[in-house]
Amino acid sequence: MRVSLRSLAAAVLLAFAVAVSAPVLAQQPSSVNPTASSVKEQQLLEALRAGTPGTGTTLSGRITIPDQRAANLIQPQGQAWRVFHQGTMHWVGGIAILGMLAVLVAFYLFRGRIMIHKGPAGIRILRFTTFERLVHWMTAGCFLVLALTGLNITFGKYLLLPLFGEGGFHAVASLGKYAHNYLAWPFMLGLVFMFLVWVVHNIPNSIDMEWLKQGGGLLKPGVHPPAKKFNAGQKGIFWAVIIGGGLLSVSGFFLIFPATADGVLALQFWNIVHGLVAVLLIAIMIAHIYIGSVGMEGAADAMTSGEVDLNWAKEHHSLWVQEEASKGRINPGALGQPAE
Ligand code: HEM
Repeated sequence: MRVSLRSLAAAVLLAFAVAVSAPVLAQQPSSVNPTASSVKEQQLLEALRAGTPGTGTTLSGRITIPDQRAANLIQPQGQAWRVFHQGTMHWVGGIAILGMLAVLVAFYLFRGRIMIHKGPAGIRILRFTTFERLVHWMTAGCFLVLALTGLNITFGKYLLLPLFGEGGFHAVASLGKYAHNYLAWPFMLGLVFMFLVWVVHNIPNSIDMEWLKQGGGLLKPGVHPPAKKFNAGQKGIFWAVIIGGGLLSVSGFFLIFPATADGVLALQFWNIVHGLVAVLLIAIMIAHIYIGSVGMEGAADAMTSGEVDLNWAKEHHSLWVQEEASKGRINPGALGQPAE
């Protein structure tokens, strides 16, 4: 009997609760907007600015798993990084690369190909050993693929995606990503060898000042400021490759192994360094490739056969020719009259 009285009381209470809540439920909108009353990103950011407890630079929640990074709800610096990544980076890259191409076209139209002023002597002298050329082409080959696949990461979705379609672009971009990650290693090795083999010829000295004062003789035909094995311009290229390549290596390492970086902020920093240095170095290397191939008669031989024409060497590296002769590497009879 006591049980049935309790059941009755419960039934009455339930009926009362339903009766009271029915009008409230009836007022609810028929279609529910689940985000209508949730906190917006903007509100969270404002709260963060007002000093809501977080970890200082991020807005954090409470979690029970060991990796505390997962507690971050919002990292406001990520917005600045996104503006760089989706905007500034495109502008800097576009201006640096297209600007360099425009300068080179203008230079070619104004100056034409830099010819061997006295014409080829027909006597070849060794400029780079097989090892030096191997090191050059290993580093250069890797750099070219790294540059193209890196540019694809930045510009591919605008340039290649419309051309190849989603399937084709996916194939190219995934292959490119693997190439980028794996060729970074022989590139770094090449940088180390390049540094060891050539650093001794790339220490700046007073001869470089004179070379720079005369604009490297680039603007006027027949002007050839003296230079040793490498002139001031080439020393600039060397140090750009070593310092720029070094920065790309360090920043790239953190991007391949993100857990080794000191958090998301550090990763964003390295990502910005990687992107900016890459596009600037690519622009510099475009100039190098131009002058080492179509821009100057006789230059490419140095990195293909390893031997250059004596008159080319006398015009562009007169002091190096003298050094080589004094070491007995050039037949003194072949030297004849110095080329300007
Ligand atoms: C198709 C691409 C390239 C061509 C045709 C080319 C050509 C040359 C030539 C002809 C030289 C010797 C210049 C001389 O005898 O005085 C040279 C030197 C050099 N190259 Fe390249 N190169 C290319 C790509 C690269 C790349 C991608 C890098 C670095 C990532 C690089 C780094 C260097 C350095 C550091 C030197 C020594 C300094 C200098 O001569 O400027 N090269 N290259």
